Amino acid sequence: MRATIPPLLLPWLLFAALLSQRPRFAVPIRSAPEARTRRRPRMLFGPRRINHARMKRMSHDPDHSAGPADQRVANDYDGFAEAYAAATESDLLNAFYIRPAVLNLAGDVAGRRILDVGCGAGPMLEALRDRGAVVTGVEPSAKMLELARQRLGEDAALHQAGLGGDPLPFRDGAFDDVVVCLVLHYLEDWRAPLAELRRVLTSGGRLIVVVDHPFVYKLFNPDADYFAVSPRSEEWTFGGHSAPMVFWHRPLHAMTSAFTEAGFRIAVISEPPPAPDARERFPEELAEVFKDPSRTAFLNMLFFVLEAPQTETVRVNHEVRQTMSQI
Ligand SMILES: C[S@@+](CC[C@H](N)C(=O)[O-])C[C@H]1O[C@@H](n2cnc3c(N)ncnc32)[C@H](O)[C@@H]1O
Repeated sequence: MRATIPPLLLPWLLFAALLSQRPRFAVPIRSAPEARTRRRPRMLFGPRRINHARMKRMSHDPDHSAGPADQRVANDYDGFAEAYAAATESDLLNAFYIRPAVLNLAGDVAGRRILDVGCGAGPMLEALRDRGAVVTGVEPSAKMLELARQRLGEDAALHQAGLGGDPLPFRDGAFDDVVVCLVLHYLEDWRAPLAELRRVLTSGGRLIVVVDHPFVYKLFNPDADYFAVSPRSEEWTFGGHSAPMVFWHRPLHAMTSAFTEAGFRIAVISEPPPAPDARERFPEELAEVFKDPSRTAFLNMLFFVLEAPQTETVRVNHEVRQTMSQI
């Protein structure tokens, strides 16, 4: 029999329950609003069949497919785009942890050409544009893209595209920075997506990546094999619309190897604290985590800044330009 907990109470009960059962420094891997979903922890490709055909967003694992009962597309944000965007606009994890951390890592972006891959409803694009960047977004979900267009304006550079399928619709070296925030964990195989991201970056450009922290997966799934790249599925519900979501856990060494094999240099690995005003805005949610006042951060996401190495010609040209400007 299904519990009859009022839907608005559910995320906070779940949040509190997880915090009380798990180490205090870990915050559930999804944002609090996302915890509004009915979770099925540790269910790895359970009794549902995921239809991978529409968007090549992830690899098919025939061993874990069941019957033809459920033909829904996995990781499809179309059904709950508006509700998801509203829930994550000013919540703790997205607005007071992930986005500030990415902006902090990006630093001074004035004049830089930045691509946001899986831009969703465009909050990061807007923040980067406000800081003077020249922004472009790609997003596979038509509904999310439409929300981004409403936010950024009709003339914004937005394209319906994603990783894991056709090449991105940009020339080689088109961007100074690429941001891929909360997207790579939908993909089983990172090789072609990382090669594509490397292609569209100028030499010397930066790739900023945010993914589920792999240690959190192990903390919340103590029996799981941390070292295996493995799928887990969840049912997400926002605004009364549900969708099956499939995430790929990947151990840390597999992430760093994938980056370096794709030709990136790892410049930063970050486990940042939330924004300075987060404790004031979310005192109840953070009370347990920061019960010990010496604590500054919690485990949730892992942030990388990767550099596309400069080619020798570009490096020499850059140095010549610098020398000329000093003469
Ligand atoms: C959790 S949301 C994050 C949105 C945005 N990056 C942010 O940080 O607010 C994940 C987004 O990735 C998109 N997405 C899913 N699979 C993708 C893929 N293979 N390539 C690019 N984007 C994808 C989804 O449609 C969704 O908008």
